[in-house]
Amino acid sequence: MNDSNTELTNRYSLAKSLAREAGAFAHAYFQRRSELVVESKGTQDEVSIADRDTEAFIRKRISEAFPNDGILGEEGADESAGHRIVWVLDPIDGTACFVNGMFSWCVSIAIVVDGVPSVGAVFDPNANELFHAVRGGGAFVNDQPIRVKAVGDFKGGVLGVGFSHRSQPDGFVQFMATLLSSGGMFIRNGSGALMICYVAAGRLIGYYEPHINSWDCLAGIVIVEAAGGVANDFLASNGLYDGNPIIVAGPALYPTLCRAIQDKPWIDPLTGLYSHPTQPL
Ligand code: IPD
Ligand code: CA
Ligand code: CA
Repeated sequence: MNDSNTELTNRYSLAKSLAREAGAFAHAYFQRRSELVVESKGTQDEVSIADRDTEAFIRKRISEAFPNDGILGEEGADESAGHRIVWVLDPIDGTACFVNGMFSWCVSIAIVVDGVPSVGAVFDPNANELFHAVRGGGAFVNDQPIRVKAVGDFKGGVLGVGFSHRSQPDGFVQFMATLLSSGGMFIRNGSGALMICYVAAGRLIGYYEPHINSWDCLAGIVIVEAAGGVANDFLASNGLYDGNPIIVAGPALYPTLCRAIQDKPWIDPLTGLYSHPTQPL
């Protein structure tokens, strides 16, 4: 095994065990969530000590094992500048579900190497499901290989969607009208990271959200691509720090999904395919 393989294998191993441990750590808070003080970070955007402590727990373990790696997380300081290997963390994805006693939340850990999303580990402690992949390997839920669903149109299953108040609603409403009038159906469970993993596992046929942050989706992107799916070039135009749209599906549905997003300048009018944002979102 060469050095770059070892570099990735050791980190993949830690990402998987750490996602499980952090999930158990967060779950202890979930069981006594009525005691949490929930603070607002913005419209429909909340945080509690459960998010902050879980992120601190993950950061400490990464720094002990790989002190020269960078870290970017939703709740902590940006410690990624100048690092070729960056861990990208969401300690609790699905905070609105978590604080209100719903079960769709998870821990999401990605590793970006030289600008390429390379490892993904997403753990759902309530379902005891660890979705994981390393670039160039297969995708798994626990020890079970997973694969995207082979469908070519919206009638073939349920599409995951997400929306936050970082985006304007008009274009999204237009997209939903196209989806529904094509015989499609949607679900939004409150955790973008989990829904992208559900695409990888063939439970959902795709996922679209007009703006998402890197810590919500990079782990899922690695997993869905390893499961035979397609994702947009999320890291284009400073996506690591500013976020971007996220579009994920099996190869046959991906162009149809892109074409249904009619309001965005980053969809090429000739091919109907995603290029990358050319204007501020
Ligand atoms: C949010 C969830 C949600 C998505 C939002 C995210 P949070 O993350 O992933 O599904 O629609 O864009 O901000 O706040 O629960 O960590
Ligand atoms: Ca999140
Ligand atoms: Ca979060």
